[in-house]
Amino acid sequence: MSDRHGTIRFCVNGEERAVRVPAMKRLLDVLREDLHLTGTKEGCGEGECGSCSVRMNGDLVNSCLVPALQAEGAEIQTVEGLATSGALHPLQQAFLDCGGAQCGICTPGMLMAATQLLAINPHPNMAEIREGLAGNLCRCTGFKRIFDSVIAAAATQHDLSAGQEAHAR
Ligand code: FES
Ligand code: FES
Repeated sequence: MSDRHGTIRFCVNGEERAVRVPAMKRLLDVLREDLHLTGTKEGCGEGECGSCSVRMNGDLVNSCLVPALQAEGAEIQTVEGLATSGALHPLQQAFLDCGGAQCGICTPGMLMAATQLLAINPHPNMAEIREGLAGNLCRCTGFKRIFDSVIAAAATQHDLSAGQEAHAR
């Protein structure tokens, strides 16, 4: 990639994408403006609120702090990549059921942080959930409903995997 513009090739939500962008354009803006994945939100723009959280190569990152060039060759997952075949991800369903989303600005980032947490710890306790979501701010819910949503999703995933195991026997 040149210093000014270049083509980045990366995999976004399982799809190979190539976009020509200014090298220092933020990943957040590339996702929203170039790929039209507007689920990822901008809150503070300074790495403080977590609204722009996406998963990049299996880590949670604040996409407002990631220059596009750093995403070259990366695997990116955004909130649009959670639902499969039109079915909500268990976390999305749990946020819906438990009232974990109110104004919704923090919700995509919360969902990605929770996805990251459950990927590394499928059965987190409340302290681990608090720690896992500590980089994400919500001005509406008081957090309890968000934490309850994560607990509900973890239980659902446990039930699903137990059901699959029973079915395989
Ligand atoms: S918008 Fe990126 S952390 Fe707030
Ligand atoms: S639901 Fe409004 S900021 Fe979290």
